[in-house]
Amino acid sequence: MASREQFSSNTGFVMAAAGSAIGLGNIWGFPTQTASNGGAAFVLAYFVLAFCLAYPALMAELIIGRHARANVVTALRGISTGPATYKLGSFVGYYGVIVASLILSFYAIIAGWMLTYLLESVTTMLGWVEAGLWLTEFGFERNLISMAVFMLLTMAIIAKGVAGGIEKWSTRLMPMLLVLLLVLIVYVLMQEGAAEGLRVYLLPDISQISPGLIVSAMGQAFFSLSLGVGTMLIYGSYLGEKESLPKLGAAVTLVDAGIAFIAGLLIIPAIYVAKQYGADIFTDSGDLIAGPDLIFQVLPVLFDSMGGVGLWVAFAFFLLMSIASLTSSISMLEVPVSLAAEETSASRFQATLLIGSVIFIFSTVILMNFDSLFGFVIDLTTVYSQPLLGVVMCLFVGWIWHRNNLLQEIQKGHADIEKTLFWKIWPAYVKFFCPVLILTAFIQSVI
Ligand code: PFF
Repeated sequence: MASREQFSSNTGFVMAAAGSAIGLGNIWGFPTQTASNGGAAFVLAYFVLAFCLAYPALMAELIIGRHARANVVTALRGISTGPATYKLGSFVGYYGVIVASLILSFYAIIAGWMLTYLLESVTTMLGWVEAGLWLTEFGFERNLISMAVFMLLTMAIIAKGVAGGIEKWSTRLMPMLLVLLLVLIVYVLMQEGAAEGLRVYLLPDISQISPGLIVSAMGQAFFSLSLGVGTMLIYGSYLGEKESLPKLGAAVTLVDAGIAFIAGLLIIPAIYVAKQYGADIFTDSGDLIAGPDLIFQVLPVLFDSMGGVGLWVAFAFFLLMSIASLTSSISMLEVPVSLAAEETSASRFQATLLIGSVIFIFSTVILMNFDSLFGFVIDLTTVYSQPLLGVVMCLFVGWIWHRNNLLQEIQKGHADIEKTLFWKIWPAYVKFFCPVLILTAFIQSVI
């Protein structure tokens, strides 16, 4: 245990955790949910929930992780107080590991599509028309190969470990992501039609605030902060004792919500610019287009109509999406790999190879039964499992773990924490409010 790896700096941790948080959920999910849920009304609900509900749950995971310095299963067992809670800890831990792996199995498929469209912009520049057609046509072989390539990239980073893999690559890729995002926003906002998109995005339609909107915003906040499945717990376990967890957690929440908001300034105006070029941007039921059609049909209309520069814009856009996916997927893979490497005699490399292969098989099964499994796995993991697991993490911290131990852990790196507003509010908050609110919203969504 003495040689357990750590992030080499605060910044390294924030980059890695923000890298996990910022993904397709921010750049694709958040803007499109906003557009179909009353514009700025959704943004408002999202920000409130991100800070009042997701941030406390994130803190629960970071604190458990740093205290236990172990994978999610061992960590939850470690803070249990008797045989029943030990069993519960094992069950929840393993459930989290399975959910993280299943999320990766569908995420790798979508990320693979980003890679194919990225490559297509290059093949088109080179004039390779046939290759471009193959890359953009929905087919089993294309899906399988692109998913496999993406999984290999993810595995290559995870095999290198915490500082040399996760931290190094997150620190390299996150600034690139920000630059690409900003460049694309400036470009799109200069196009005709962008102002209409901005209006749709930023003007609140208060009449749309409903229980359904709150549930969607909560699900989005949990998915976006990678909560419930042990990702943030394992990243917390690589943090040193000198760091203030409440501050780091707040930084990650702020960056994640900020990037989601900024991504909205790109995606929604881009949809309305595409409309100028003749793209059909509404679904049959009159909603703004949101699913894969948005990314793979509407936006390409925009890129195609821009002439030569459109290829570069497409390249930048799909590079942005690929980077965002990769820094998230490594955090998903780290959950099962850390468990296997810590609990068996396998080396990190062997654990990565084994688990990466198993997830590759999951993804292949999804691809073979795409119509029945793809949407099902997404709902099972993100709509149902993530919020429920988030509740259990809060219950562990609020009810099972002794308050004094909790205080001791959180005092590391923040000696005067007892005097802060955070400590006055947070323990009661994770104990009562978070579970009740999350469960209420959850039941709403199931009904
Ligand atoms: N937060 C990622 C996104 O917004 O795309 C998705 C995610 C990452 C979910 C890691 C779960 C996870 F464990």
